[in-house]
Amino acid sequence: MVLKIEGLVKNYGDVKALDGLDLEVKQGQVYGFLGPNGAGKSTTILSTLGLIYPQHGRIELVGLEVFRDGKYSEDSLVEVKRKVGYMPEHATLWDFLTPMQTLDIIGEAFGIPGRERRKRAEELLKLLNLWEVRDKKVGKFSKGMRQRLLLAQSLVNDPELLILDEPMTGLDPSGIAEFKDIIKDLNREGKTVFFSSHILAHVEEICDTVGIIVKGRLIAEDRLETIKREFLRKAGYIIILETNKPISFEGTGWKATPLGEKKYRIAAPDDIREELHDFVASQGAKILTMQVKEPSLEEIFLKIVE
Ligand SMILES: Nc1ncnc2c1ncn2[C@@H]1O[C@H](COP(=O)(O)OP(=O)(O)O)[C@@H](O)[C@H]1O
Ligand SMILES: [Mg+2]
Repeated sequence: MVLKIEGLVKNYGDVKALDGLDLEVKQGQVYGFLGPNGAGKSTTILSTLGLIYPQHGRIELVGLEVFRDGKYSEDSLVEVKRKVGYMPEHATLWDFLTPMQTLDIIGEAFGIPGRERRKRAEELLKLLNLWEVRDKKVGKFSKGMRQRLLLAQSLVNDPELLILDEPMTGLDPSGIAEFKDIIKDLNREGKTVFFSSHILAHVEEICDTVGIIVKGRLIAEDRLETIKREFLRKAGYIIILETNKPISFEGTGWKATPLGEKKYRIAAPDDIREELHDFVASQGAKILTMQVKEPSLEEIFLKIVE
């Protein structure tokens, strides 16, 4: 286990940010930590790194117990910080420095010797498509370039675990695709990646495990497909049906909403695609297209919070 959190409680005054959170990240995973704004994602991450004080619970990070019974182990924290990379949600860069200088300062802070530092910076800037702009001032960089430089910063100490807080928020679709590719590459090189997001699309395609946090509790932890299927089972199916002529759904018991003259949205408790085929045929009509509509993250959250 690279990260294990048990029963974590964090209150900010009267605000219950974490309400007994349990979470497990295994070595080699790309873990998407998904939840709406204010769910407690950043609070979880800050606690993991010893940057705020939770009240109760236990945190184990890269094999060491860093927090227990309301206290951090300072020795363990120092030890784990060598093995963990962190990209904060609201990070600042030094606008008047270049990427090369930025990484050099971080490398120096980690006590890496000069020559090795520059070699490491070169590797990282090439990996993150920033080599061309290595000597340009960061102040002029786009959001995507800034996010990639922040990721580079978190990689200077060659960590085994990367913790990224909303790394793709604010990026355009091509920036997101690029970021996902980089995460995949890093994972292939053996790094475990744990990142948070409030947007479902960010965790799709790259995460082997997704944890959903709502109001400071982990309410699901599984493969994304499994979570979605489970939700579909609970929420019922929504099928978009297109036929070659209008049909009436009276007496079927299905909730059919017309979306057009020959297009319907059908909600049913089970997968009724087979039955729909027979029914439409019995009406002397033909199915042109039929698709099961995937629930959006918002719909999943709404359902769960209900
Ligand atoms: N420093 C703080 N002081 C008071 N309340 C806070 C503070 N930080 C976060 N909160 C509250 O704790 C809850 C969880 O916040 P946060 O962990 O930032 O959520 P997320 O990262 O999932 O958006 C929210 O209700 C937020 O308003
Ligand atoms: Mg946050």
